[in-house]
Amino acid sequence: MALKSFLVASLAGLSGASPMLLQREVVTVTETVPSAAAPTATAWDAGAVPQIPIHNSCNATERAQLESGLNDMLTLAAHAKAHILRYGNSSVHYTRWFGNAPSATPIGWYERVLSADRADMLFRCDDPDGNCGLHPDTWAGHWRGENATQETVICPRSFSGIRWSLDAMCGRGYTVANSAGNSFFGTDLLHRVLHVPRISENVVDHFAGDYPEMMELAKTHPEEAVINSDTIQLFAVDVYAYDVAVPGVGCHGEYVAEEPTAAPSSTPAAQSTAAPASSATPSETPSVTDSAPNVSYFSI
Ligand SMILES: *[C@@H]1O[C@H](CO)[C@@H](O)[C@H](O)[C@H]1NC(C)=O
Ligand SMILES: *[C@@H]1O[C@H](CO)[C@@H](O)[C@H](O)[C@H]1NC(C)=O
Ligand SMILES: *[C@@H]1O[C@H](CO)[C@@H](O)[C@H](O)[C@H]1NC(C)=O
Repeated sequence: MALKSFLVASLAGLSGASPMLLQREVVTVTETVPSAAAPTATAWDAGAVPQIPIHNSCNATERAQLESGLNDMLTLAAHAKAHILRYGNSSVHYTRWFGNAPSATPIGWYERVLSADRADMLFRCDDPDGNCGLHPDTWAGHWRGENATQETVICPRSFSGIRWSLDAMCGRGYTVANSAGNSFFGTDLLHRVLHVPRISENVVDHFAGDYPEMMELAKTHPEEAVINSDTIQLFAVDVYAYDVAVPGVGCHGEYVAEEPTAAPSSTPAAQSTAAPASSATPSETPSVTDSAPNVSYFSI
């Protein structure tokens, strides 16, 4: 039995009367509608794929580490979204990274990372394109690009201890401004899923990769900052560090330009291996080599 209720309210006596004397008349009309079957929802989400698929080429240890990294990625995305929903552009973190761009755009990308359907996405460990085997000491994974656009390969190197858990946030000398964005497995994987059209809709791309460029992008092209892969990654780390990991302090750091003369060979021989900060190896500055849209198949 369905009921329709109409609530009709009218206010009378506005003219000249004191507010106390306002008369309010409320009429409720109830109409009975012939019974109909309760509507049933369509099976609108039949076949949904809510979890990111991991191929069985990842062994038990690799799968466990990958799942942990993906959970870190989701934690970063969820907090970034929550921070923006709470503060919008009144957050100094927001304006630092996204300038005066409307907040709905980055919220949307974090939401897609969190909740977009994962059909035909795949993380695999079997090196189908042979890249891990060719570059075992430098490649930690890659997007498969034209070979399988929704697929990401994770190489053994990713599982060898080069990627940190979010638990280490702000330790080991890490700063958002100076350290490699992919120090954390969660950030690395955020970068990787932003290559996958299922998540990125071929919109998120690489417009600026290093810190000064990203700061400049926020000021001069906020509409690109909100679709810049590295900005989306680093805003998430920045607010996670400040709000959650080391509350009220974070580890933004102050950007220090690299000495251009130090290591022309690009081998950071003099760098400590403890902190991934400020090295010039391609593995730590992936997006610099990633500047051309849609040709950056790997992020090392
Ligand atoms: C913040 O957003 C409001 C709209 O919600 C807008 O009017 C204002 O200009 C924005 N301020 C900055 C600094 O982006
Ligand atoms: C795609 O496959 C070809 C042939 O196996 C390979 O040479 C190429 O490197 C692969 N592309 C990527 C992005 O791995
Ligand atoms: C799983 O893969 C890792 C490399 O990522 C390797 O070190 C380990 O031995 C493998 N485990 C088994 C049981 O093969």
